Amino acid sequence: MNTLHDQLVSKDATMSVVGLGYVGLPIALAFAKHLRVIGFDIHEGRVEMMKRGEDPSEEVEPEGFEGCDITFTANADDLKQANFHIVAVPTPIHASHQPDLGPLLAASRTVAGALKKGDIVVYESTVYPGCTEEDCVPVLEEVSGLKMGTDFFVAYSPERINPGDKVNTIETIVKVVGACDEPTLDTVARTYDLVVKAGTHRASSIRVAEASKIIENTQRDVNIALVNELSIIFNRIGINTFEVLEAAGTKWNFLKFQPGLVGGHCIGIDPYYLTWKSNKLGYHARVINSGRYVNDSMGFYVGKQTVKRLLAHDINPLEARVLVLGLTFKENVADIRNTKVIDVIRELESFNVNIDIVDPHASPEEVKAEYDLDLKAAPEQGAYHAVIAAVNHEEYAGYDAEDFRGLLKGGHGTVVDVKGVFRGRTGDLDYWSL
Ligand SMILES: NC(=O)c1ccc[n+]([C@@H]2O[C@H](COP(=O)([O-])OP(=O)(O)OC[C@H]3O[C@@H](n4cnc5c(N)ncnc54)[C@H](O)[C@@H]3O)[C@@H](O)[C@H]2O)c1
Repeated sequence: MNTLHDQLVSKDATMSVVGLGYVGLPIALAFAKHLRVIGFDIHEGRVEMMKRGEDPSEEVEPEGFEGCDITFTANADDLKQANFHIVAVPTPIHASHQPDLGPLLAASRTVAGALKKGDIVVYESTVYPGCTEEDCVPVLEEVSGLKMGTDFFVAYSPERINPGDKVNTIETIVKVVGACDEPTLDTVARTYDLVVKAGTHRASSIRVAEASKIIENTQRDVNIALVNELSIIFNRIGINTFEVLEAAGTKWNFLKFQPGLVGGHCIGIDPYYLTWKSNKLGYHARVINSGRYVNDSMGFYVGKQTVKRLLAHDINPLEARVLVLGLTFKENVADIRNTKVIDVIRELESFNVNIDIVDPHASPEEVKAEYDLDLKAAPEQGAYHAVIAAVNHEEYAGYDAEDFRGLLKGGHGTVVDVKGVFRGRTGDLDYWSL
């Protein structure tokens, strides 16, 4: 039988990717090297950039657009030309930590408007187990008037890429796939095999595939929460967490997690999708929620420790100047959404500390719009009582005692090293890390 996979390969059928962000654009471009692809996004400004071969998320280099058979569009009618649809839109949470399915259901409505008999819809967005079948499929059926399982087919394949990571990429990470039936699973897995050199893992169901993704990030979150809590304890004891971890890490089965701020839209968000589902089923997930609580508190904790250090050096916080190096949610990326550095800043602000923030990767306009903060183009030399190394961008990797001394007032003051990367490299300056 001539399956949709074969028609895609012979370009008798077309793929669409709906939502062209960190996840959607790389996958769309990877497929566009083999298939005919329509890249759809509701954000017209982003679409215009991609038409010019620019990635608004700054992950894909201009060469990544070369040799691709892809049409970028913000016109949902264009999706009617496609038969295999991949949905990769955001799955954020509300302020109350409840899943916000707004973008996912909106994208489902858009795809439903283009659905034809025989089409396949693959969701890549991270969701709780059950979401694809309980929340998305009803929208697809209602809007299209078609029936899932007979008229169109659904699959789920979570994305595991890691922003800023050039080693673990779409090609090198095994792709988990779950589908509504065996033929769909086979078509979808063989289609991903075209671009995923590491191959696919065929899960027994859509729910298993959904659950596998959400627990990867939940496991990381809980483990980081444990070392963050240990770091609070060790701070009281007066020993350095990284030294303890180095010693414990010599045992073969000690897990090498490090303390830090857990921001971004994956690790700090996904566990809430699972705990929400769990709550609905009558089980209050204590371990996962405790981990979330600890990790969500760490930014405020770092801010408070900085103020304590200032006071210990007889510096009135009202007159103190503090430099924050880095604002994005992780190193070497441009994304400032859900950064936990903001909690460090808000805590310092609550003590009326004067703060300068620099970040070579963040856009000053976005920082202004999102947080009402002004990024400084460059730090002032000899101006600060404390420097907080909040994000380890490559621009700061080579910093040593002389660089910090140059920033500090009179060459003295405190270095707050959130990730412990400058340990042993700050000379006789006052030093604190998680
Ligand atoms: N960023 C990551 O590293 C990563 C890794 C694994 C999984 N995920 C998951 O993948 C999904 C997408 O995340 P992302 O980081 O790519 O998000 P993103 O914010 O970078 O991009 C999402 C894109 O979708 C577009 N969009 C929003 N609503 C839309 C709609 N209704 N129709 C069409 N386009 C729409 C936005 O304009 C944006 O371009 C999320 O569920 C996320 O949890 C992300």
